[in-house]
Amino acid sequence: MGDGSDQDVQLEARLVEQDSFEPPEEFVEQANVSDPGIYEEFEENWPDAWEQAADLLDWESEWDDVLVEEDAPFYEWFVGGELNAAYNCVDRHVENGRKNQAAIRWEGELGEERIYTYQDLYREVNEFAAALRDLGVEEDDVVTMHMPMIPELPIAMLACARIGAPHSVVFAGFSADALATRMNSADSEYLVTCDGYYRRGDALNHIEKANEGLAGVEHEVEDVVVVDRLGDEQPYELSDNQHDYDELVAAQDGERVEPVPRDAEDMLFLMYTSGTTGEPKGAKHTTGGYLSYVAWTAQSVLDIKPEDTYWCSADIGWITGHSYIVYGPLALGTTTMMYEGTPDYPDKDRLWEIIERNAVDIFYTAPTAIRAFMKWGEEYPASRDLSSLRLLGTVGEPINPRAWKWYYKHIGDESCPVVDTWWQTETGGMMVTTLPGINEMKPGSAGPALPGIDAKVIHPDKEEVDPGQAGHLTVQKPWPGMLRTVYGNDERFVSEYWEEYSDPDNDEWIYFPEDGAKIDEDDFITVLGRIDDVLNVSGHRLGTMEIESAVVGVEGVAEAAVVGGDHEVKGEAVYVYAITEGDTDGDGELRERVVEGVEDAIGPIARPEEIVFTPELPKTRSGKIMRRLLEEVANGEELGDTSTLRNPGIVDDIQQKVQSD
Ligand code: WT7
Repeated sequence: MGDGSDQDVQLEARLVEQDSFEPPEEFVEQANVSDPGIYEEFEENWPDAWEQAADLLDWESEWDDVLVEEDAPFYEWFVGGELNAAYNCVDRHVENGRKNQAAIRWEGELGEERIYTYQDLYREVNEFAAALRDLGVEEDDVVTMHMPMIPELPIAMLACARIGAPHSVVFAGFSADALATRMNSADSEYLVTCDGYYRRGDALNHIEKANEGLAGVEHEVEDVVVVDRLGDEQPYELSDNQHDYDELVAAQDGERVEPVPRDAEDMLFLMYTSGTTGEPKGAKHTTGGYLSYVAWTAQSVLDIKPEDTYWCSADIGWITGHSYIVYGPLALGTTTMMYEGTPDYPDKDRLWEIIERNAVDIFYTAPTAIRAFMKWGEEYPASRDLSSLRLLGTVGEPINPRAWKWYYKHIGDESCPVVDTWWQTETGGMMVTTLPGINEMKPGSAGPALPGIDAKVIHPDKEEVDPGQAGHLTVQKPWPGMLRTVYGNDERFVSEYWEEYSDPDNDEWIYFPEDGAKIDEDDFITVLGRIDDVLNVSGHRLGTMEIESAVVGVEGVAEAAVVGGDHEVKGEAVYVYAITEGDTDGDGELRERVVEGVEDAIGPIARPEEIVFTPELPKTRSGKIMRRLLEEVANGEELGDTSTLRNPGIVDDIQQKVQSD
């Protein structure tokens, strides 16, 4: 992943050679978790040890059972307990005398700042909850949000949580089609969106896309709430069932809504993610297990303390933002930062300037971002005072040792631990990572499984691999933050995640996340990446099937195969190989329409890096496309065995086309 080719990246020989790092003493002394006995504690007292996660929350009524395994793999956690997520993220901090602490510090791309204290958040969440109720939103109605990084997004999420309406946030960069698919799948009759937002200084129209998406919703949409982010910059008209967010909230001035007690197992939200087939899956997360899990991991891994200013630079439209911008940090009562825009606007020091000005204590980002920072040069972070930082984290994809060390040195000044956290939309929270106050760090390896997490790297025969060997990562015991099902599709839940390795007859259930991994003699796990047809582009998960169906939907394309090719900054990039229809030869115009087709179906994040038109695709005699060969072509690698192909000659032709581009 771009490793080794970064000649312009300066690292001293000392750092290049060092392959493990002790956590800085100063950090350990103040760490939330520093007793190595915690691993044993969880092992000996499993699953009851998980009560320490639940105990971070205030419950309306205590649970009867920590874990119910009767319907495995449909596990249930903290059964019988009742709580409200908004109460835990907002009210209780107000009640505990911390109403004037900043809950959210938001920064717009153009430099505006908005600070919401816990009291401000309390007021606005209540008012918007009251407004949603007045619109007719009832407990268990799914409310969709198609919104960028503006404060009204977490406010709307918490307002929903308050009244027991699950939310389904659709990343703002996703297309109209993607929005419609998700609203249809969730039978969602309500949408909260906005007029637009800023990207690289330009006002981006969002409401047009949202309206287009709404046109594709198959059931009746009751109400749409529109946040006016751009003011006069971009006039728009609201239709009959569309309401202005500010007007709704103003009309509820001072209104209070009792937080609805929710069953621990009641759905808190849905988050759609890509899988092997074309249909995105709605991961269902619950109120008790999820919130306990993200609060506990935010405390023990991110070391968050209430007095911190904490910044996760992800987008709330992904699970990282749900768990570690909104729910985890706010449950702990800290100050969570939000930034609307891009990291290089107006200049490449924007993030470092934000850290300096706000004295950020903890920073959590993605390897793809770090690779971009490396490329831009160390002079940008060097020009800012980053001494407020105490801990650094990464998530989303494997981080190569060089990038890890660059981050450690140029952002952390060799005095902050770096946590490389492996997890997924489905796991709800972090699963494999070092505990920064306990473990040494090995760049490139995420670390051991967290206490209470039974991760094993196994062979297809289910035996554990020897240290150094590659196998499949599995999780062999349930955990509180796990998805409970694929929304509306229990069968798919079982077949996607459990079928591969479980033995239902013996009631043995093994979760398979579809990642390859290695493990070393210290039980440190190195995640190698997806083994299914899912790409990881800039830390975003994209299904190759989804992209293929978009490409095939373009007039003039007969057949297509999509694979990932290595990319220096993005990690992986989208490579499209397409057979044209009839006598179309794949001219520039068709190329443009393929790009458009992909952007319309998914969004600009899925934009192809390379489009190759070819008369044939390499196929086995049984007609299966050999994706492996297409990947090798994309990466300029030497080609593997082509003898099983019925058309071996085509690979050379394709290779020549890619090389001549
Ligand atoms: C996939 C999950 C977890 C929130 C962001 C992505 C890859 C994630 C790491 C890591 C190596 C990682 C895996 C995983 N991944 N973190 N630290 N090291 N790989 O969530 O979109 O559900 O994607 O991201 O392949 O399966 P997601």
